[in-house]
Amino acid sequence: MGYIPKFFRLVRRFGLRKAIYRSVVFLWTDKEDTVYGDYKRKHFVGITGDIVEIGVGQGANFAYYHNVGTITLVEPDVIDRPELDAKIKALQAKEVVVLEKQFEAVALAPASTDVVMATLVFCSVADSIRFLDKIHRALKTGGRFYFLEHIQAKTFLRRLLQYAVNPFWFFVSGSCQCVKATDRLFAADPRFKVISQEHFCIKDGFPWVRDHVIGVLEKKEVDDQGEGGVVYSKQACKIIYT
Ligand SMILES: C[S@@+](CC[C@H](N)C(=O)[O-])C[C@H]1O[C@@H](n2cnc3c(N)ncnc32)[C@H](O)[C@@H]1O
Repeated sequence: MGYIPKFFRLVRRFGLRKAIYRSVVFLWTDKEDTVYGDYKRKHFVGITGDIVEIGVGQGANFAYYHNVGTITLVEPDVIDRPELDAKIKALQAKEVVVLEKQFEAVALAPASTDVVMATLVFCSVADSIRFLDKIHRALKTGGRFYFLEHIQAKTFLRRLLQYAVNPFWFFVSGSCQCVKATDRLFAADPRFKVISQEHFCIKDGFPWVRDHVIGVLEKKEVDDQGEGGVVYSKQACKIIYT
């Protein structure tokens, strides 16, 4: 198998840290449908209108977009451009816009999109509260946020393992933090109505990234907290800065 030469080519090109991260992404992308497919097919249904997808990766969610409006793809670190371009060309959408930047740096008009999609992204975001705030602002009333995240483990032993490996994991995995309780951040936000939500534990992959949450939130008509008012959720989500 040509994986080892490929790894060393990546090391030469990007350095060890990025090479490890990209290799994990390459390997994981191949497994994604086996691991998450059934959950996504259950929760990511009926996606219509204009879509903003954050942290597109290699397009793992494109299969859930059929005859949609404008798709804005936000991805600061495209790993395999030819493969991603081919997938983008096959999308059935009115228009596709690719923004090669961090979501934090993207200017989106308030209430401008029907759908925001983000899968396996919050784990590597420095300020999850602001990130969710920005998603909320960009959504139209009734607009939907589709998410899938790995989260803080439910059992004491797995949590212990997560805290032990987190500094190493953060270093090699593109600043991902395996201890984040992103599910609690979402659940504590009264500006969204929960359309669907499911916690599940996968058997594949590293033991510290097995607990997951998937679901759909809908932006409520009345914004209980006003723009930017999500200070309450600081208590709900333990965020560690390394
Ligand atoms: C683990 S990958 C997941 C990719 C894809 N969403 C999936 O489910 O396979 C995380 C992705 O989020 C992107 N990402 C991380 N922080 C981001 C940010 N602040 N804004 C936009 N994308 C970000 C990374 O570049 C990476 O492609």
